Amino acid sequence: MQRNIAFIPGDGTGPEVAREGIKVLQAAAAATGLQLDFTTYDLGGERYLRTQETLPDSVLEEIKEFDAIYLGAIGHPDVEPGILEKSILLRLRFDLDQYINLRPVKLYPGVETPLRDKGPADIDFVVVRENCGDVYRGLGEVTNKGLSDERATQVMAYTRPEVDRCLQYAFALTRERDKDRQLTLCGKTNVLTNVYGLWERAFHEMGERDFPDIERKYAHIDATCMWMVKNPEWFDVIVTGNMFGDIITDLGAMIQGGMGIAAGGNINPEGISMFEPIGGSAPKYTGLNTVNPLAAIEAGRMMLEHLGHADAAKLIERSVASFLQSGRVKGMSARDVEESGLGTSGIGDAIAKGI
Ligand code: IPM
Ligand code: MN
Repeated sequence: MQRNIAFIPGDGTGPEVAREGIKVLQAAAAATGLQLDFTTYDLGGERYLRTQETLPDSVLEEIKEFDAIYLGAIGHPDVEPGILEKSILLRLRFDLDQYINLRPVKLYPGVETPLRDKGPADIDFVVVRENCGDVYRGLGEVTNKGLSDERATQVMAYTRPEVDRCLQYAFALTRERDKDRQLTLCGKTNVLTNVYGLWERAFHEMGERDFPDIERKYAHIDATCMWMVKNPEWFDVIVTGNMFGDIITDLGAMIQGGMGIAAGGNINPEGISMFEPIGGSAPKYTGLNTVNPLAAIEAGRMMLEHLGHADAAKLIERSVASFLQSGRVKGMSARDVEESGLGTSGIGDAIAKGI
């Protein structure tokens, strides 16, 4: 079988980690008789600085024809914050209606967590972050900019269908995962009574009606942060809005060992999905061969899993697990990668070889 992937290496260290991801993906594909074909799109800061183009409509249309998108990172130090993020990354998410941001928080054996007395058995949950709505949508305005009475609004907004489709995905995933069969809604019903009141009602209505086998829990966003550190073993699947999901998944990345291993999928269950390491472009490490490619490799594994190639995904998972177990890298940071003597490409080689 052949799969066609749109490849956006992007900025900073994006291209070098994604290169290792593709190396590993190709090894897993070859071992399972799958053909992966990558077509590269040079979206990102360099192209913007050269041509003022971010994501041309024609490119977006072309990308819609692929089976999936594999992304390195978007973000460039010479471009004003917000431009590339909004007009490339968020536009892809919104225009392709990738309404789920799936972020597994799993501590592999052999990886250090900053949480004392917690191990792989305690840190294994998934965050389902709604990915198209919330304050991210850009509703709001700035009036009297620069004046003493400047006022700025950025509105947190959700519709019932937006909430329902996200909840549907989260409940179904909790059932399929079959771990604790427990779904936690993370919100702020004590203050954001409109928005999280809607989420809470929709959550219980759907759960009671369609998922009586799934235990429903609720935690405020602030308490969720506390429990993720104090008792991460309490979580199986967490579902939340876009903004809170953004925040807790960075915290999740830290407890699973660091940005060097955290991956995510921007998923449109009925359309084209995009997979990425969640750490960003880390420009100061560009070209040093010290950024950990494991997050990009994990993003590739998620992509295969999503496309239904469970056998190839499993090969990557096993190779990553045995590499981490071997202790050849002590931690996930750039310094750890450097000290391991392997470098970015050496880690990619080791995981590909393990397959
Ligand atoms: C992420 C990133 C993005 C987000 C930024 C770069 C727009 O932080 O994928 O979590 O906020 O969603
Ligand atoms: Mn983020």
